[in-house]
Amino acid sequence: MIHFVIVGVLVLLSTYGLYNFVLTNEILLPIQASEQAIPIDNLFEIQWFFISFFFSLIVIFLLYSVVVFRRKKGDDGAGEHFEGNTVLEIVWTVVPLIIVLFLALKGSEALAEVERRDPNAYEVTVVASQWNWRFEYPDGETSNTLVLPLDTQILLRMYSNDVIHSFWVPEFRVKQDILPGGGEYIRELRITPNQLGDFKIRCAELCGQLHYSMLADVSVISQDDFDFWIKEQGGGCESDDVTCGKLWVDQNACTACHSLTGEVIVGPSWKGLYGSDVKLNDGSTVVADEEYIRSSILQPDYQVHEGFSGILMPSTFSESLTSEQIDQIIAFIQSLE
Ligand code: CUA
Repeated sequence: MIHFVIVGVLVLLSTYGLYNFVLTNEILLPIQASEQAIPIDNLFEIQWFFISFFFSLIVIFLLYSVVVFRRKKGDDGAGEHFEGNTVLEIVWTVVPLIIVLFLALKGSEALAEVERRDPNAYEVTVVASQWNWRFEYPDGETSNTLVLPLDTQILLRMYSNDVIHSFWVPEFRVKQDILPGGGEYIRELRITPNQLGDFKIRCAELCGQLHYSMLADVSVISQDDFDFWIKEQGGGCESDDVTCGKLWVDQNACTACHSLTGEVIVGPSWKGLYGSDVKLNDGSTVVADEEYIRSSILQPDYQVHEGFSGILMPSTFSESLTSEQIDQIIAFIQSLE
């Protein structure tokens, strides 16, 4: 009897310790920054309680038996044998069954809460591609930072230009894979930010060479600041060609692959590229003039720079960039001599 009391007390202490260690430790759980995070964290707390309890029950029972009932010196007898225990078998079948049904109920409640639709949700289109994020707002504004107003349900409609990516902001808790193909493959995710602050989107699907660097900033600001920000975005570019070209280069994250310093990342560096002789994979040589650069943007797999792959560069710029934007990007590259 005394063994049961000791094991019981140890199990309760261990359950209490484990349960609190994870739930009160900020390093283990990021802050809760969306309405959807609340039901998810509540569900996690319930599950974590059962996990802490059963882990403690099994491990402490095991360790206690190993230490206390170990074979002692001079004791060569076999232990006591017994077979079957109907009460125990009923208990260990019925109790887990009740717990599983309870968790299923709580899980479906949490799912319904996370997917709850606000008919006035603010819609943002998320375009993922190797390896950058672009966010399109209702009036045509685009940005590489996901700026969101506080306390408004955001409906993210997401698609990919190439392979499967995944939208994940740990502080919002929810996560959604993003598929290529458009139309019926567009995926939706609802987020109601309830904390001001800056967070990071991490692509959570292995999507190629630079998957690890497929990050974007998320900024949650007040409704007033948001209204001001969206007005500023306005679309278009009113400046000279080189400045506008740089803007398009930043928006499309070209420099993730093409350095401006001469360093080779994934594609050829743009430093000193304009006007230089470029050796192609087929052995011939061309001059990197306006025409060559335009064709490289529109048809990356046509005249490929020696030592590089033409298929790593997205082939979608002929649709996503206007010819004026391409001219301005070329002007920017030309300015890098
Ligand atoms: Cu996109 Cu990983």
